[in-house]
Amino acid sequence: MSAPEDFSRRIEEAIKSPKNLGELEGADAVGTVGNADCGDMLRMWIKFKEENGKRVIDRATFQTFGCETAIAVASVATELIAGKTAEEALAMGGSELSAPLGPLPPVKIHCAQLVEGALRSALSPANIPPSNQAVAPTLLQQFQEQSPKKIVLEPSK
Ligand code: FES
Repeated sequence: MSAPEDFSRRIEEAIKSPKNLGELEGADAVGTVGNADCGDMLRMWIKFKEENGKRVIDRATFQTFGCETAIAVASVATELIAGKTAEEALAMGGSELSAPLGPLPPVKIHCAQLVEGALRSALSPANIPPSNQAVAPTLLQQFQEQSPKKIVLEPSK
């Protein structure tokens, strides 16, 4: 099997049943990032827990308007970072976050960087509350909090 075929097969396998897809209710942190070049976007939610006196990632989930590679990388990355501290997760780059998928072709490296960017956004100090309180709204909560917009129709002249 050629390298491109092998890569396609690995991505296909990973997106058959992506892990940790969807909003995470009660998340402690959320980060969103977009890639201006391809127009793709990825949001990641993170929930922490206390374990052996350390604050570690309990669960991470994602949503994306992204390509299949971004979905596959986000799926494996959200599994990889579970159990890690924020510092340990932040030490991981795109190639480590996508490692279970094998090497990515050069044109797909930015897809892993999209996942890394969302993770960095979620774990930026501004997005992590000092205590283990759930503060990050879900997309649905954000939508519900917005006051309804009024649309005024102008009579035609
Ligand atoms: Fe844009 Fe993959 S092509 S994230």
